[in-house]
Parts: sequence; C-alpha cells; structure tokens
Amino acid sequence: MDTCALRHPGLSVKRLIPLPCLPIAADSWATQETNTRSGADTWRCKECHGWDYLGRDGAYASGSHFTGFPGVADAAQSLSDEELLGVMKGETSADHDFSAVMPDVALNALVMLLKEGLVDVPQVINYETKAPVEADAAHGEELWNRLCTFCHGPDGRNINFGDDEEPEYVGTVAQENPQEFLHKDRFGQPGSDPEMPSTVDLGWSLQDVLDVLAFAQTMPTEPPDVSPSEHEAMEEEEEEVPDEANALVNPIEVTEDSIATGAGLFAATCSPCHGETGQGDGPLAKALAEPPANLHEDPVQVNSDGALFWISTHGVPDTPMQPWEQVFSEEERWHLVNFLRTFR
Ligand code: HEC
Ligand code: HEC
Ligand code: HEC
Repeated sequence: MDTCALRHPGLSVKRLIPLPCLPIAADSWATQETNTRSGADTWRCKECHGWDYLGRDGAYASGSHFTGFPGVADAAQSLSDEELLGVMKGETSADHDFSAVMPDVALNALVMLLKEGLVDVPQVINYETKAPVEADAAHGEELWNRLCTFCHGPDGRNINFGDDEEPEYVGTVAQENPQEFLHKDRFGQPGSDPEMPSTVDLGWSLQDVLDVLAFAQTMPTEPPDVSPSEHEAMEEEEEEVPDEANALVNPIEVTEDSIATGAGLFAATCSPCHGETGQGDGPLAKALAEPPANLHEDPVQVNSDGALFWISTHGVPDTPMQPWEQVFSEEERWHLVNFLRTFR
C-alpha cells in the first residue's frame, strides 16, 4: 500500500498530516544507477536511508534496495534542526528538495523524528541472526495479546500484507525485516485501515517493542491450512457450547466489587469491539469481518453464566472473537460474566 500520510512522531501529539501522493519528489535517484524505484517509493525516506536509518551502512548495504545512499543517524545527531530542515529543502543538494511535495509541517515532523525518534538499531538487533540482542518473548506475547491481536489475530495471520500467492504476515516481516518491524511497531502504519496505532504514542518502551518482535518471530509465515472437513468441524463447534460448560455454576458471587473488576477488564479489552456500553459499536467494529455481538440482546443474554464463561474462554471459532484463556485468569473471566449480566 502506498502511504501518502505521515504521523507526527511527537511523543505526545497525535496528528496525521495528509501528504500528496506525487510520483516523484526529489532527484537524488538520478545520482545512482543501481536501483530503479518509481511512484511513492521515490520520496519515502526509507527507500534511500533504510528502516534502520543507516542507508548503505545498514540493512540496505546489499539486496534489492541497495543504492549506496548515506544514512541519516549521524546527521540527526550532528546537524541542528535548521540544518536538517535545510537538507530536506535542497539547501545542500538541489537533488534532495522535498519542499515541493511536503508542507513545512511535515518536514518539521521529520526533523522531530530524526532528533527524537531514532534508535541505534544495530545495538538492539543482531543483523546476522535478525533476532533482538536481548528480549523476553513471553512478555512480548502478553503485550501482543493486549493490543496487536485485535487486528492481527493471535498468530499474526488475520491480515495478509501480501497476496494469496505470496502471503506476508506479521511473522514474515518479523523474521525477514526486523528493522522494518521495529520502526512500524514504534510509529504505526499511518493511513492503514484500521489505523495501526503507534506504540511510542501509547508509552511502550523500546524493550517492550523488542519483546513483541521476539514473540512475533515465533509466528507462522505459511497460510493457515484449513481443510474443508476441519472447516466444517469449526463451523459446527461455533454453534455449540458443550453441555457440561452450560451447566457450570458461577463460583463468584455477584458483588459490586466483582462487577467493577469485570467492568475494568471489559473497558480495557472488550470495548474496542463491543463498544463501551456493549452495543457492538466499538471503534474496531467496522473493520471486522464479523460484526461484534450486541451484548444486551437475547442470543447473548439467553446463555447461562456457564455458557458466557465458556464463550469468554474459548471465543467463537472462525470469527474475530478470539479465545481469552491465555489473557485472563479463570477468576477474571467470571468477573467478566458478572459484568456482562449487567447488560441484561
Ligand atoms: C532518492 C533517495 C533519497 C530519498 C528518497 C531521501 N534521501 Fe535523504 N539523502 C539522499 C542522498 C543521496 C543524500 C546525501 C547527499 C545529499 O545531501 O543530497 C541524503 C542526505 C540526507 C541527510 C543528510 C545526511 C548527512 O550526512 O548530511 C538527511 C538528514 C536526509 N537525507 C534525510 C532525508 C529524509 C528525512 C527523507 C524523506 C523525506 C530523505 N532524506 C529522502 C538520498 C535520499
Ligand atoms: C487497529 C488495528 C491494528 C492494531 C491494533 C495493530 N495493527 Fe499492525 N497493522 C494494521 C494494519 C491495517 C496494517 C497495514 C496492512 C497493510 O499495509 O496492508 C498493519 C501493519 C503492520 C505491520 C507491517 C506490515 C508491512 O509489511 O507493512 C507490522 C509489522 C505490524 N502491523 C505489527 C503490529 C504489532 C506488533 C502490533 C501491536 C503492537 C500491531 N501491529 C497492532 C492494523 C493494526
Ligand atoms: C476483536 C474484536 C472483539 C473483541 C476484542 C471481543 N469480542 Fe466478543 N465478539 C466479537 C465478535 C465479532 C463476535 C460475534 C461472533 C459471532 O459471529 O458469533 C463476538 C461475540 C461475543 C459474545 C457472544 C457470543 C455468542 O455466540 O453469543 C460474547 C459473550 C462476547 N463476544 C464477549 C466478549 C468479551 C467478554 C470480550 C473481552 C474479554 C470480547 N468479547 C472481546 C468480537 C470481539
């Protein structure tokens, strides 16, 4: 997808700056012969300077992206804000003038990214193994389950960035291009639908992002293999809550405390899809293949407590309603049930 928008990289300010999608922005390409990019590729800074900000000294030292262009990491440190702005406006080289395609506000945002947003990528990623130098994949899995799974699914395969022939999932990017993963996880994917959030904006540390990278590198890169019979089995399963689950007795008394605990978990985790008041109208709802259930209505409320507990544990197979067994303790899931009952 061509991205013609830029997220303000400010740590506290969230703002999208729409940019024109012009075919060509600067003529630096004319200064080399090794690479023939076109379209939006020509003005995307990463095409010449790399996801790791190191240009020919980094991951783009070889491969299809090789250009011989310099990195920006040193200049980001040694040049002043004005000088960096000047470089982007063609003051040091007429071939590097982006002012015709990017408004000042966007160029200033880029200066801010250069000054405050870069990390020393080879310090934290081993370029030989492509793995983070130090990371806790189990902590990464926890973070994944709190945020990324809503769009990408538990194993990163809900969204395919490639096509049917050459699928590309989160696991693929994590394994093949950890530098890109690091940048996108930190700054999000401006202009994507639904918009991928920036974890820098959400207050994640660099270590948090590396932990998620380590976990994402364990994800499958092959398309899910669902044979017709398996598919049928899943569909059948979807209908049925097992009898013994239906009959389970709620062990947690319905108290104000229990409902408040459930409400807190719901607001943090379920409301992006089901909506703050459970009407099925959360901010992610429109982006989902299957609409989230309105939790006030009968098909849901007619369930026994045990059945609601089972659904909150196992999810609904083949829909965005994922299993929550790994995310919440048994007790927490019963608190959720007690809260869901307040919608009755
Ligand atoms: C088509 C390739 C290309 C693209 C796209 C490109 N640059 Fe550059 N950049 C260069 C080249 C070549 C140089 C070094 C010579 C020069 O100043 O023109 C450079 C130099 C720089 C420098 C100064 C480096 C130093 O050591 O002095 C900065 C900072 C920079 N670019 C930032 C950016 C930003 C930000 C973007 C995105 C808006 C961008 N560049 C897009 C090719 C590119
Ligand atoms: C609100 C939905 C949403 C959430 C939450 C989300 N993403 Fe994304 N993500 C997307 C979309 C949409 C794309 C762009 C897909 C495309 O380009 O076709 C994307 C793209 C990506 C890519 C880049 C793929 C590429 O090659 O362009 C990576 C890596 C990624 N996401 C990882 C994550 C991680 C890690 C998290 C959790 C921190 C996360 N995402 C959370 C929606 C989301
Ligand atoms: C990523 C979006 C998403 C999130 C997050 C989500 N749900 Fe759902 N939920 C759905 C969708 C979609 C359905 C409808 C599934 C279907 O088609 O049967 C659903 C259905 C349900 C149902 C009704 C199932 C039935 O068959 O009656 C319950 C109960 C439910 N969700 C509870 C929760 C709880 C509790 C949470 C938080 C722990 C939660 N959901 C989080 C998307 C989500």
